[in-house]
Amino acid sequence: MIAVRGLTKKFGRQEILRGIDLTVARGETLGIIGRSGGGKSVLLKLIIGLMQPDAGEIWIDGENIIGLSERKLAAIRQKVGILFQGGALFDSMTVEENIAFPLHEAGERDPKVVREKVSEILEVIELEGEQRKMPVNLSGGMKKRVGLARSIIRRPSCILYDEPTSGLDPIVSDSINRLIRRLQERFRITSIVVTHDMKSAFHVADHIAYLHEGRIYFYGTPKELEVSSDPLIQDFLLGRSERELEPVEST
Ligand SMILES: Nc1ncnc2c1ncn2[C@@H]1O[C@H](COP(=O)(O)OP(=O)(O)O)[C@@H](O)[C@H]1O
Ligand SMILES: [Mg+2]
Repeated sequence: MIAVRGLTKKFGRQEILRGIDLTVARGETLGIIGRSGGGKSVLLKLIIGLMQPDAGEIWIDGENIIGLSERKLAAIRQKVGILFQGGALFDSMTVEENIAFPLHEAGERDPKVVREKVSEILEVIELEGEQRKMPVNLSGGMKKRVGLARSIIRRPSCILYDEPTSGLDPIVSDSINRLIRRLQERFRITSIVVTHDMKSAFHVADHIAYLHEGRIYFYGTPKELEVSSDPLIQDFLLGRSERELEPVEST
């Protein structure tokens, strides 16, 4: 469903991505982990066509999106929903209006159709009865749910999550992880979940890729990651800072 080949991206002289290769099969969930500032959000923005890479290919559902016209890109974007790090709700709109926004944008004018679709999604995200609330009156977890509802209202075949549990307490994080799983099962959505929350990665991902210094340093199942004896992976899993920074023992 999604394939990335030799993807590179520089900002000025800073090489963020140095040749990324990744494949996500239909219906599968790939977790991407890695240190903050490593280029995970940039990778997602490239995949959805919000940024242009310096080189490489990005295949979505059999089509290379690099160099596509804005019109063709819009059609691809319809297949791919994204949940941004902050959730990015419109503060002046109610929950219902926020969720319905992509439908209006796509030209849906029938209020009955909109209402039905919104109430179906509200049920999926378990926020029935909250549709008249304003974002300011929602908890962090609820905001994420509404953002998620907005990303899936047009039934994308892929969804990209950028740090879906960041800033949430463990219990709310767990409920978001369950929701991600439920979406996978109910709609068979192909997903990429970028996260620094290892628990979340283990919970939702079929495969995990570890992005390090602009490349995929590790790719495997959560189980394979867990038993990896690679020192870099171990440090990351245990939350240790970089080896180079540790005092070197004198010989
Ligand atoms: N639009 C941009 N212009 C310049 N630099 C950027 C831009 N977007 C991201 N960066 C830089 O790219 C690097 C990777 O950022 P990001 O993908 O947000 O990291 P991550 O999501 O892994 O924490 C950072 O150093 C960031 O400052
Ligand atoms: Mg990020």
